[in-house]
Amino acid sequence: METVLVVGATGNIGVAAVLGVLRAKRNVLAVVRNQASADKLFQHVKSKDGITIVEADIMAEEGVRGVVDQVRAGKLPAFQHVYAAAGGAYGATLLRDLTTSELRKFMAINFESNFPYRASIPYLLEQSGPTSFTLCTGSQGDIGARAAPAITQGPLFSMANVACRDNENTNVRFNEVYLQTRVEVDSSAEKTGAMKASDFAHVYTELLSRPDIKSCRISVATKNDLTDLKYKKKITC
Ligand SMILES: NC(=O)c1ccc[n+]([C@@H]2O[C@H](COP(=O)([O-])OP(=O)(O)OC[C@H]3O[C@@H](n4cnc5c(N)ncnc54)[C@H](OP(=O)(O)O)[C@@H]3O)[C@@H](O)[C@H]2O)c1
Repeated sequence: METVLVVGATGNIGVAAVLGVLRAKRNVLAVVRNQASADKLFQHVKSKDGITIVEADIMAEEGVRGVVDQVRAGKLPAFQHVYAAAGGAYGATLLRDLTTSELRKFMAINFESNFPYRASIPYLLEQSGPTSFTLCTGSQGDIGARAAPAITQGPLFSMANVACRDNENTNVRFNEVYLQTRVEVDSSAEKTGAMKASDFAHVYTELLSRPDIKSCRISVATKNDLTDLKYKKKITC
C-alpha cells in the first residue's frame, strides 16, 4: 500500500491532507513537532489507524532529511507522495510597520517550512514508479490584504513554478493547491463558518488518483471546486 509523507500534518491543511490520504486507502507518515502535536493530530482525525508518526524539526537543515534517512534505512515506511502543508503564520502588521525581524520570522515559518522539498525530492526521483509532491499556497499573495502573509506567499508561487518545470519530465507529479478560501479543522470551522478540513480533504484524496494532473495549479474557492477539480498548467515548457 502507498504511503504519503505529510509535512505540517497537525495544522488546518495538514489534517485535511491526512484525512484525504486515509480516505484514499493509503497510509500516512506524519511529520510532527512533538508528542503534543501528534496528540492534536489524532484528536482531529479521530483515529490512529494508518498513521505513523515521526518527530522532526522541519525548520532545521537536517529535519526532514533525517526522516528520509530513516526511511532509507527501513526504520520508517517508504513513501511515494509528499503533501507539504506547513506554515500558517498570520498577522495584521501593516507593510509600513513590518520590521525586518518580523518579516524574517514570517519567511521562516511560511516559506522555509515548505522547503523540505529539497530533502524529499531526491528520494521521490530515484523511485521507478510514479510519485508526487503537492504544495498548498493561498491567494493572500495576490489579494495583498495582509502584508506578511501575502509577501510570504510570493516565494511559494515561484517555488511551485520552478518545481513544476524541474519535474515536468520526471516521475514526480508536482502540483500546487491554490486555496482561495479559509479552511480550518472541523471543530474550529463549525464556529467560524470556514470550509471544513474534512471537506477540503477531498482534493487530497482525488489528487492521488489523477496522473493527468501534473505541473498544475488546482484552484479551490468554493465547495463546488472540491468535487470538480479546477486545474491548469502552471508553466509551459
Ligand atoms: N488554512 C487556510 O485556509 C489556508 C489558506 C491558504 C493557504 N494556506 C497555506 O497552508 C499552509 C498551512 O496553513 P494552516 O492554516 O494549515 O496553518 P496551521 O493550522 O497554523 O498549521 C501549520 C502547520 O505547520 C506546522 N509548523 C509551523 N511552524 C512549525 C515549526 N517551526 N516547526 C514544526 N512545525 C511547524 C504546525 O505544527 P504544530 O501543530 O506543531 O504547530 C502545523 O502542523 C500555509 O502555508 C498557508 O499559507 C492555508
